[in-house]
Amino acid sequence: MKTNTVWQEFEQDSLINSTFLDGQKGHVIWLTGLSGSGKSTLAKYLQQDLVKQGVSTYILDGDNCRQGICNNLSFTQKDRRENIRRISELAKLLRQIGFVVICSFISPTDTIRDLAKSIIGQDNFVEVYVECLLEECEHRDPKGLYKKARNKEIKNFTGIDSPYDIPQNADITINTKELTIKEASDSLINQVETLL
Ligand code: ADX
Repeated sequence: MKTNTVWQEFEQDSLINSTFLDGQKGHVIWLTGLSGSGKSTLAKYLQQDLVKQGVSTYILDGDNCRQGICNNLSFTQKDRRENIRRISELAKLLRQIGFVVICSFISPTDTIRDLAKSIIGQDNFVEVYVECLLEECEHRDPKGLYKKARNKEIKNFTGIDSPYDIPQNADITINTKELTIKEASDSLINQVETLL
C-alpha cells in the first residue's frame, strides 16, 4: 500500500547495537508448529537458560499477543498474515536493540514465514520447527481447542480445517513427541547456543 511517508533517519539508527544492552547482538529465534506442539514450553526453557547466561531475552507468544497488540485479528489466512507482520516488526525492533527475541507462533504457511524472515532479515532469523504429529497434538489438546474444532464450535483451526505447511528448510527441528521435554529443550538450547 502506498503510504505517502518518507523514512526519517535518527541518531538511534547508528547507535543501535553499540550502546544498547552492552552491545549484545540480537537474534530472533522463531518457533513454528501446530497448536499444542510445545512451542511455548520450549520458549520458556530456552529463555530460562539464556537468562542464566546473562543474555537479555524477550518472548513474543501467539496466545499472549492475540490478547493485546493483535486482539482484533481472527484466524483467517489474511489475519494470520497480519498477526505475523505486526509481530515481525516488533521482533525486528527488539532485536535491533539487542534482545534475543523468542517468537512462538503457529505461523502456518511458507508464505507467512517468508514474510517474517523478510521483515526481520534472513541473517538474524533462526527458524525452529517444533515437530509433532497432529494426532499427538490433538491427543494432548491442552486448551480443549481441537475438541471444539472437531465439533465445529470453532473454525479455521490449524491442522483441522486450516493448513499447516511443514517447513522444508528449518535451521533447527525439534521433535517433541519422540523426545522428553528435557531432551527437547536441551537439544534446542544446545543448537541455539552454537548459532548466537
Ligand atoms: S498464527 O497462525 O496466527 O501464527 P498464533 O500463534 O498467533 O497463530 O495463535 C495460535 C493460538 O491461538 C493457538 O495456540 C490457540 O491457543 C489459539 N487459537 C484459537 N483459535 C485458533 C485457530 N482457529 N487456529 C489456531 N489456533 C487458534
